[in-house]
Amino acid sequence: MKFFVDTADVGQIRELAATGLLDGVTTNPTLIARSGRNFLDVIAEICAIVPGPVSAEVVATEHEAMVAEAEKLTPIAPNITIKVPLTLDGLKTCKVLTDRGIMVNVTLCFTANQALLAAKAGATFISPFVGRHDDVSWDGMDLIEDIKTIYDNYNFETEILVASVRHPIHVLQAAKIGADVVTVPPDVIKKLFNHPLTDKGLESFLADWAKTGQSIV
Ligand code: E4P
Repeated sequence: MKFFVDTADVGQIRELAATGLLDGVTTNPTLIARSGRNFLDVIAEICAIVPGPVSAEVVATEHEAMVAEAEKLTPIAPNITIKVPLTLDGLKTCKVLTDRGIMVNVTLCFTANQALLAAKAGATFISPFVGRHDDVSWDGMDLIEDIKTIYDNYNFETEILVASVRHPIHVLQAAKIGADVVTVPPDVIKKLFNHPLTDKGLESFLADWAKTGQSIV
């Protein structure tokens, strides 16, 4: 399963990229606003840090305007992925862009039927939002299972990118289902490293090592 980070915070991206774990980055207009940076500048900087797909989202809602925004974004770097919303205009735009060889991430997916349409429009990635589903008392992971079944039934190449991840259990469930990608906020990625027994074990190993009076270097 590929790991993307869901943020436009360049400091966090640099720190996580140094672990070698990052396969890509997703952003959205909310995350760009939170960064306080110019959209084009911050996307260019992220693309230079992470060689994998970097999602930059259009904000137009009509097809021609979406294509115009995509044409402004795509020259930034070869790893730009254009993010479009799962609307009729968004999927028209998806088809046009993927026909041109541009990677497209179709976002704001909340049903398996929407995911089916995105695959038929040639989407590179489909982003089902699991956390926002959970927020309204649906199990977001049921949606991932349904999309996985449908995509496997028809050998669609669109990658399932699990989005709106809120905690480590989402990551575990996504991996068990066999999702292609999970995009995770930095604080949740950091939680994946932690376990109290790891901390406790390390503490006792170091205490015992100190008793030996030795040093390795
Ligand atoms: C995905 O690409 C979105 O940017 C993101 O995962 C949305 O997450 P949220 O529901 O926590 O805002």
